[in-house]
Amino acid sequence: MTALRTPEPDEAEILTQLCLRSKAVWGYDAAFMTACRPALTVAVADWQQSDIQVAVDDGKIVGVAQVVYQGDAAELDKLFVDPDALGGGIGRRLFGWSVETALNRGAKVMTIDADPGAADFYRRLGAVDDGMVASTVVPGRFLPRLKLDLANVPPH
Ligand SMILES: CC(C)(COP(=O)(O)OP(=O)(O)OC[C@H]1O[C@@H](n2cnc3c(N)ncnc32)[C@H](O)[C@@H]1OP(=O)(O)O)[C@@H](O)C(=O)NCCC(=O)NCCS
Repeated sequence: MTALRTPEPDEAEILTQLCLRSKAVWGYDAAFMTACRPALTVAVADWQQSDIQVAVDDGKIVGVAQVVYQGDAAELDKLFVDPDALGGGIGRRLFGWSVETALNRGAKVMTIDADPGAADFYRRLGAVDDGMVASTVVPGRFLPRLKLDLANVPPH
């Protein structure tokens, strides 16, 4: 049974390692993974600057989501599921938590700069395409930006 909870700041390194393991499922090479490391690092300061949630299965953290805010816009900064737990509904649950949390914060829209491999997952969950954005990690790489209009999210 998977439970969601707020992690503790002393779990930051566990979350960073989870993000790196999860990102690697798309088959990126070592140089790319090294370049991604700063963007995938969860820092203690994040607890002051964002909302974070983990999914836990049998005591093990198997997924993490992080939402950041700018004005009345939320951004899904991280959503990573452990490679051993993919396809089991954890991504959907953490996405649902992210939407609910952004709504509770008064956000009107949630944006996602998606890994190309994950873009269809977000479309499946109701996000729509909103152009392409330059990667902050690799010059010349572009990522699909998706957005979810939070005014149109049905209550659950
Ligand atoms: C993208 C990710 C978060 C999805 O998590 P997950 O737990 O495997 O997804 P779920 O099991 O909750 O899937 C929910 C639905 O989305 C679909 N789905 C999941 N991943 C998908 C993908 N990559 N492409 C298309 N559809 C996908 C599932 O089939 C399921 O559909 P259904 O409701 O018809 O059964 C996960 O694959 C992941 O962590 N990937 C690696 C890291 C990553 O790229 N994260 C996103 C960064 S932007």
